[in-house]
This record gives sequence, structure tokens and C-alpha cells, in this order.
Amino acid sequence: MLKNDLVLRAAKGLDVERTPVWLMRQAGRVLPEYRATRAKAKNFIDFVKNPELACEVTIQPVDILGVDAAIIFSDILVIPEAMGLPYQMIEAKGPWFEHTVKNKADIDKLKIAEAGDLDYAMKALSLTKKHLDNRVPLIGFAGAPWTLFAYMIEGSGSKTFSKAKQFLYTQPELAHQLLEKITQSNINYLKGQVAAGADMLQLFDSWACVLSESMYYEFSLQYISKICDALSPLVPITVFAKDAHYAIPKIAETSCNSIGLDWTIDPATARQQAGNKTLQGNADPCLLYADAEKIISEAEKMLRAFGKQRYICNLGHGLYPDLDKQKVKLFVDVVKEYKW
Ligand code: CP3
Repeated sequence: MLKNDLVLRAAKGLDVERTPVWLMRQAGRVLPEYRATRAKAKNFIDFVKNPELACEVTIQPVDILGVDAAIIFSDILVIPEAMGLPYQMIEAKGPWFEHTVKNKADIDKLKIAEAGDLDYAMKALSLTKKHLDNRVPLIGFAGAPWTLFAYMIEGSGSKTFSKAKQFLYTQPELAHQLLEKITQSNINYLKGQVAAGADMLQLFDSWACVLSESMYYEFSLQYISKICDALSPLVPITVFAKDAHYAIPKIAETSCNSIGLDWTIDPATARQQAGNKTLQGNADPCLLYADAEKIISEAEKMLRAFGKQRYICNLGHGLYPDLDKQKVKLFVDVVKEYKW
């Protein structure tokens, strides 16, 4: 039995006595302790593939920041890799793929990943679950099919993702074939994560922002919906589609439990559109550059706007590496100490 199950209760729409809080990218460079552990690995990929080190940095924010959930340290790009497209993480630049997907032959060559292909991730989850000792829930995750597709076509990050979008406009049937393969891989992977100890899941659709509304439904949300249908009977699942808040009413029609929000939508509007789903978010990470007084007043304003129930406090995107750890901790403390 979990000692603190606030995040799970909030996700399921059950009563909570206070607002739970965790932060996207809480396991990251904002913590000097993370940087020290990372220095023990040869590079980012070796780090991700080392279950002991992954376990260590996953638990750090629970100990240091006092957050109400741990999120397994990994990356969304492990799925393209398991399907047959290896990547590198280039310092100060981000991900880079030597081979990208260009045509049908490239898609046919890719395999549908099985949980066993990501044995290191399963080991990291079970080890972390053990060491967490039921203090807080463990969150597993995957990239949404569209976001992974975008990296697999583009080969790296991009301002416009115009190559990936060109593929959608010129070869829509092939695009659907690849999206389907990614979806099946994600379902296998996420089921494996649950079997290995994940208490909850989140899908990150970081590049939702580059698609038009109708293309978003066709090329992204229908696949997210399939993943939710496969996983939500097992554990609660959150859908975080960055900068796509026009899609909230449609995301609310999927079988997800909660909807992650970026900071470009106000809480009241999101509530109106999200039916009875739980909401998660949505402080601008840049708020944490402000002085303590401003952090406290804005955090409390946000809590009041979302309300006590069906709400998990978080940021609207990941922590930036140059934020001050003390201010991050202050934000967490304000949420935990808020008296309803
Ligand atoms: O604490 C957590 O949130 C869990 C860990 C986590 C990481 N990546 C670790 C990481 C999670 C959930 C991710 C997801 C991820 N990875 C996303 C979706 C979320 C988002 O941010 O939109 C995306 C788009 C990626 C791809 C990715 N990984 C990029 C673009 C980068 C480079 C950016 C950077 O900050 O350098 C990464 C690297 C990465 N993944 C880091 C971490 C902690 C930084 C690498 C380092 O330690 O130097």
C-alpha cells in the first residue's frame, strides 16, 4: 500500500485532503545531485540504460524537493531506438538520429518494440519501485506517437518540423502505417512499465504545437486514444499535449484520466472544457525565476483557480536547468502547505 497516494486519488477523481504536486523534468540538471550522478555515466544514453543510476536520480526529487510522485528517469526516444533507429544526445544541442525514415522500405524495416527490448527500463522501474518503498507513486511515460514520428522523420529537434509535416501532406497512408507501428510499440512498452511497477502513466505530445487542429485529430489524437484504451483499465493515464489546448474537449472524450496543461490556457477555461477529467499543470516554469513573494502569490492564485479536487499541481512544461533549486522547492512547499 502506498503511504502517499494523493496523485493517484486526484487522477481518479477521488477526494484529497491537499493538492498533490510533482514537476515535469524534476529529475534533471536543476539538481546538483542529478549532475553528480550523471557524471558517473559515459553519456546520456549509457545513463538512461543504467538501472542503478536511473533509480538514483528518479528518487532524488522525492528526497530533496518533497514531491508527491516520482517519474522514472528515461527518455521518450528509447522507443524509436528499440524500433531500430538509434539516437545520440548531443551536449547543448539535443537528440540526433543518424538514420531517419524516408520511405516505405524504411518503415517496413522498423520492428514493433516489445517490453523485453527495453529490459533496462523495466529493471530501472522495478528497482525504483523497490527503493521508493511505497512512499509515493511511480509514474511511467512514453512519447505520443506524433511526437516520436516527428523525431524519426526529422532526425533531430526542429523549429517547424516541416519535414515531418511534409510527410503527412505527401504520404498520409505511409504516415499512418508508421504511427500505427509506434502506437503498438508504445502499448507494449507501457504495459511492460505497469508490470514492472509504474502506478500511473503520462503521454508527452511535445510537438502537438506544430499541427493544425484537424491534422492533430487525424495524426495524433486517434493514436493517443488507442493507447489510453489499452492502458487506462490498468492504471490512470495523463495526456499532455503541449500548446494544443484547442483539443481539450476532444482529449476529454478519450479514456484518459487526466489532462496535462501548458501555461497558455487559464484554469477556468480548461475546467469548462475538460468535463470530469482531472487537470494537471500549469504554472509557467519561468515563474520560478521570480522573487519568492511572486512565486507564492501566483502559485496560490493558481491553486484557487483549479480548486481542491480533480487537480494535480505541476508546471506547464519541464523545469529549466538554470532555475534555482531553492525556488523550485519553495513552489512545492507552497502547494503542499496551502490550507483549503
Ligand atoms: O523528470 C522527468 O520529467 C523524467 C525524465 C524525462 C526526461 N526526458 C529526461 C531527460 C522525461 C519525462 C523526458 C521526456 C522527453 N524527452 C520529452 C517530452 C517532454 C518535453 O520536454 O517536452 C522530449 C521532447 C524528450 C527529448 C529530449 N530529451 C530532448 C529534446 C532533450 C534535450 C533537451 C535538454 O534539456 O538538453 C532530452 C534530454 C533529456 N531528457 C535530459 C533529461 C534530464 C537532459 C539531458 C542531460 O542530462 O543533459
